[in-house]
Amino acid sequence: MKGRVEAIIGAQWGDEGKGRVIDEFGDRFDIFARYQGGANAGHTVIVDDKKIVFHSLPSGMLHHGKLCVIGNGVVLDPELLLTELRELQEKGMDRARLIISRAAHVVMPYHKVLEKAQEKFRGKGYKLGTTNKGISPCYVDKYTRSGLRFEDIINEHKLRSKLEGILEEKNMILTRLYNESPIAFSEVFDSARHWGRELAPYIADTALEINEAINNGKSVLLEGAQGTLLDIDHGTYPYVTSSSPISAGGCIGMGIAPKSIDRVLAVVKSYSTRLGEGPMPTEVNGGIGKYLREKGGEYGSTTGRPRRCGWIDMVALSYSMKINGADAIIITKLDVLTGIDKIKYCTAYEVDDNLYHSFRSEFDFLFEAKPIYEEIPGWSEDISECRRFEELPLPAQNYIRIVEEHCKVPVIFIGVGPQRHQLIDLGF
Ligand code: GDP
Ligand code: IMO
Ligand code: MG
Repeated sequence: MKGRVEAIIGAQWGDEGKGRVIDEFGDRFDIFARYQGGANAGHTVIVDDKKIVFHSLPSGMLHHGKLCVIGNGVVLDPELLLTELRELQEKGMDRARLIISRAAHVVMPYHKVLEKAQEKFRGKGYKLGTTNKGISPCYVDKYTRSGLRFEDIINEHKLRSKLEGILEEKNMILTRLYNESPIAFSEVFDSARHWGRELAPYIADTALEINEAINNGKSVLLEGAQGTLLDIDHGTYPYVTSSSPISAGGCIGMGIAPKSIDRVLAVVKSYSTRLGEGPMPTEVNGGIGKYLREKGGEYGSTTGRPRRCGWIDMVALSYSMKINGADAIIITKLDVLTGIDKIKYCTAYEVDDNLYHSFRSEFDFLFEAKPIYEEIPGWSEDISECRRFEELPLPAQNYIRIVEEHCKVPVIFIGVGPQRHQLIDLGF
């Protein structure tokens, strides 16, 4: 019988708490599979007093006997991956088996130089605030078909012949267009050859392996990075990332059929945050925005930059539910709202005296959008020890019901703290 396949995706602008939720599901799935993005992601898991942040590795790595897969849709920086692996090994926490798709693209040193140079040349109003992990130049190369895949760097002859042509062009762009220094062939070649040797044991035909596993009854949890509103097509373009974090991205980035996904789980933070530039209608500068940043520890897991914060946005969320075909919501960080007198939630946008109840991803519309709020009383009781829905104060229960009503999707888990098991299970 076919194994279950479920997808975890971020419903907002990333950092919803996907990593922690996936780690929590360690016992419920056999295979954990990252399908897009790269080291721009930072997925935090807290075990006792240890904080582990996964950038390239799947968030199921802490679980014994599981298979972790990095799919073809991921762009992988080998140096960062090897460091992440080593750190995990040193802590004795690399408990799962890892395989990496031979078709995943390699983030090369010139991608990072190019990203910085491109951001510098972008008009002031168009700065994106990217993570400088070489993500967009690597995806560009993938789509112009001048990228290096892992199958290329594990074969020295292939690597040499491909890299010679690629680097010649890159150096032309770097020196003539961006006024940067050229990159020496021997340096890049030696690094890439080293990465190929180190990573060769992990390289596999992941699409075939995962399909075979599903057909043999193994269950799979697909791990989306970033969030729906950062999706290259459905997010707030151009203030987006260069891949497809939505659930459909899981099919392409892993090589599994749409019909094999049984359930889509959308992770929703109890309020909104955004890292980098771009529109965010419910952002609050100072006041509650600052309060949420400090109380929620809203600083980037990858870059340490402060996250922009504000109230939850039901207009954006209900859009996200549709784009992903969300079957269930996992709401995180409800504990962060404790102690707020009146909690607001955005139910519409006002633009040029017109009221809009549905989301539009055009950035100029969203920059103009004035959020229309409704308000409910908050609660002051500590909820971090609650493990059943009925134990939550009534206003907190009410807040969850309001999210469900606006999203038209049931909430099945509620995060009440960052530690393992600080969750309320409403019926998985
Ligand atoms: P991801 O990128 O979606 O995996 O999220 P990040 O790891 O970047 O950011 C989420 C942050 O919130 C991390 O620091 C988590 O430890 C923390 N977190 C997750 N769930 C909860 C929760 O329910 N309550 C609290 N207080 N913190 C949480
Ligand atoms: P996780 O998986 C939050 C943002 C960057 C920038 C934009 C484009 O931890 O939720 P990129 O480097 O991808 O080209 O940057 O996307 N961004 C994220 N924001 N969480 C993330 O990942 C992000 N990954 C990228 O800040 O605005
Ligand atoms: Mg993150």
